[in-house]
Amino acid sequence: MALWDVYYTVTSLDDAIQLLSEYKEAARIVAGGTDLVVELRNNMRTPSVLIDVTRVGGLDKIHLGDDGLIHLGPMVSHAQAAASSLIQEHALPLAQTCWGVGGPQLRNRGTVAGNIITATPANDTITTLQALDAQLTLRSVRGDRVIPLCDFCTHVRCTLLEPDEMLVDIAFRPLKPEQRGVYLKLRPRKALAIAVVNVAVILTFAGDTVTAARISMGCVAPTIIDVPEAQAVLIGGSLTDERIEKAAELAADAAQPISDVRGSAWFRREEVVAMVRRGLESLRAGNERMGLPPVDEMVTLWGKTRYGPRLSGATVAHHSDGDEPIECTVNGQNVSVRGANGKTLIHMLRDDLGFTGTKAGCEEGECGSCTVWLDGIAVLSCLTPAPRAHGAQIVTVEGLVEEGQLHPVQEAFIEEDAVQCGYCTPGFIMSAAKLIEEYPHPTREQIKAGLSGNLCRCTGYYKIMRAVEKAAEKNA
Ligand SMILES: Cc1cc2nc3c(=O)[nH]c(=O)nc-3n(C[C@H](O)[C@H](O)[C@H](O)COP(=O)(O)OP(=O)(O)OC[C@H]3O[C@@H](n4cnc5c(N)ncnc54)[C@H](O)[C@@H]3O)c2cc1C
Ligand code: FES
Ligand code: FES
Repeated sequence: MALWDVYYTVTSLDDAIQLLSEYKEAARIVAGGTDLVVELRNNMRTPSVLIDVTRVGGLDKIHLGDDGLIHLGPMVSHAQAAASSLIQEHALPLAQTCWGVGGPQLRNRGTVAGNIITATPANDTITTLQALDAQLTLRSVRGDRVIPLCDFCTHVRCTLLEPDEMLVDIAFRPLKPEQRGVYLKLRPRKALAIAVVNVAVILTFAGDTVTAARISMGCVAPTIIDVPEAQAVLIGGSLTDERIEKAAELAADAAQPISDVRGSAWFRREEVVAMVRRGLESLRAGNERMGLPPVDEMVTLWGKTRYGPRLSGATVAHHSDGDEPIECTVNGQNVSVRGANGKTLIHMLRDDLGFTGTKAGCEEGECGSCTVWLDGIAVLSCLTPAPRAHGAQIVTVEGLVEEGQLHPVQEAFIEEDAVQCGYCTPGFIMSAAKLIEEYPHPTREQIKAGLSGNLCRCTGYYKIMRAVEKAAEKNA
């Protein structure tokens, strides 16, 4: 069954705003689709019209404006934010936040804007951007309005966004030299796990004395909360053990968590104490960077392609019951596909084009078995609408074979017996091949990071990692 009726790929922001004004509640903007496609599949949202804004040039810019604020465009992905020198240097907690979202393929499509609009209290960037006092610009045919992020989210999944509005800018002040901050996320594993509790702390210092403090917390109330009582005990003195302990206890007192599958209310409160304490101690020790890789060592699975080509010309509509073709390149061949307008990319590739190497595992973004390259970057085809491929270049695992010769990663998987049932293998190979394009000689940590968006239920990871190392050795 089609997931939507009509899919517009707009080529200008004005077109998007006009379409929102025309369709209002019936329409949703689609950015990375990593929340929306899951919601559509689970009938949590039922818009008939999707407006894809990912092909509009310039919306993925991160820059320091003349107003002294850092601006993120609405298409800035988590990967771009984490790998931005500007963000790493002047908003470290946001880089840490974005680096911890999902896995690499998810970060390549998922945007900061989409994260804010979905507005669950577990959506990581909201906590940090609230601590940074971010403001949002919402645009409609009626004009622009600017809203502080702290007022924007009103309840779980509820915001002040009107149906005809689009979030067009996220802005916040860069941290000053006397300010330092940190973001911490408690989750069951390092990748592909939603927060059980998250905390962002930003302190202003005069020497050792704290002169201002901001602590924001997620997953402990229906919206992100600040804790003024905890902030107050930190101000006017240095970060002594006593002050840290008091602030952590006051933060836990302010938390009003629920019990759910990810953790009980009691556990969350205990973790608030531990995480606020850990955050403050790390700021005292000056080691708040906590393992965030520097920009030039960060694994993004972009390979050598930084940004995909934009679509030029007029806005394109693909009706799920229409016969407008999706025209794209798959494994170097031009294809024109009819009948896939209401599907996700994985089904177009498998069912319409017969590229069954790409596997459908969870179809919820959790396993990575559907990984393909879209305009040169690794993405999850189960969360990518098929019409997003229009005018794009797709590579599947079949496309890694050149003139009958397997890719070095494919060969190494065979040589190292890194395959058992094989279901996860194409996804791992697509991630690993992109990793080696990006870092011909990756470190163990980089291999772990590059494969962190892929799950294997049977072989285990040691052989897979050895296979990637072996493939890299062939690069010598
Ligand atoms: C396996 C998995 C793991 C995940 N892990 C994490 C995690 O660790 N942390 C986390 O916080 N989230 C996580 N998420 C959730 C999701 O990936 C993020 O929230 C992501 O940032 C959403 O961005 P997107 O671009 O994909 O949004 P989309 O899915 O495209 O859109 C999300 C919502 O925002 C609206 N929207 C998007 N952009 C705009 C705009 N500019 N103006 C108006 N409306 C807009 C859409 O209409 C939709 O309602 C995970 C999701 C999955 C499937
Ligand atoms: S992540 Fe796409 S099928 Fe599992
Ligand atoms: S080899 Fe079976 S899931 Fe990985």
